Amino acid sequence: MAAEQDSGLPVPGGPRHVAIIMDGNGRWAEQRRLPRVAGHRAGVDAVRRVVRAAPEIGIDTLTLYAFSSENWRRPADEVSDLMSLLRHHLVSELDELNSNGARIHLIGDWRRLRPEIVERLEHAVAVTRANSRLQLAVALNYGARDELVRAARHLAAEARAGRLDPAAIDEALLDGALDTAALPPVDLIIRTSGEQRMSNFLLWQAAYAELLFVPTLWPDFDAARLREAAQAFARRERRYGGR
Ligand code: IPE
Ligand code: IPE
Ligand code: MG
Repeated sequence: MAAEQDSGLPVPGGPRHVAIIMDGNGRWAEQRRLPRVAGHRAGVDAVRRVVRAAPEIGIDTLTLYAFSSENWRRPADEVSDLMSLLRHHLVSELDELNSNGARIHLIGDWRRLRPEIVERLEHAVAVTRANSRLQLAVALNYGARDELVRAARHLAAEARAGRLDPAAIDEALLDGALDTAALPPVDLIIRTSGEQRMSNFLLWQAAYAELLFVPTLWPDFDAARLREAAQAFARRERRYGGR
């Protein structure tokens, strides 16, 4: 097993699309008697590690839950620290993302973030557009219920404009109206930090995803743990209701 874990080869039967609820930054900092923002900074390092490792493991799409539509409920100074980190790293990480062949996608109501951040996000999407080694979807101001509400509103507007027959709405059409329309199906959802809940992440897309809850706090997550998760996925039997 150790040799298998150390290899830089793709995991046979591993997941193609992995989505991660990156949780535990605050607890990581508290354990060290550091301010929570130190945990968020260390969390950025973990993001860099998984983005580098994912393609080597055979993962071609990685979706990261970075800021939920409910995270606005946090104290203003923490929200502001998170936005500053985002604003800074959107610029400082671009070269690294390009050299990793990562193409950025955004899911969530990210256009409602501060205009300066929206501009940087649009820039990051544009300059990574030609990359194809890793599809990297970042969930920002994302909530699965909000995503479904926005999709429903869009379809209703299309119907009212006479461009869509309500009877034509099926699972594929609704799926295509979600923020994840351009991404392959989610195979594996990992949540770090030991919490075992979805916290409004990819509720529709999770219908037949495999779920993995690991005790590791997000800032401690690394390539070896991502590989272990891919190996755990490869051992699962997916049935989709069949037998
Ligand atoms: C996850 O870590 C990062 C974000 C939600 C932005 P937390 O900040 O939720 O860390 P804990 O759960 O308090 O440890
Ligand atoms: C989920 O983590 C959101 C992100 C990781 C961005 P939270 O820490 O916000 O979730 P709860 O509050 O524990 O459910
Ligand atoms: Mg948390």
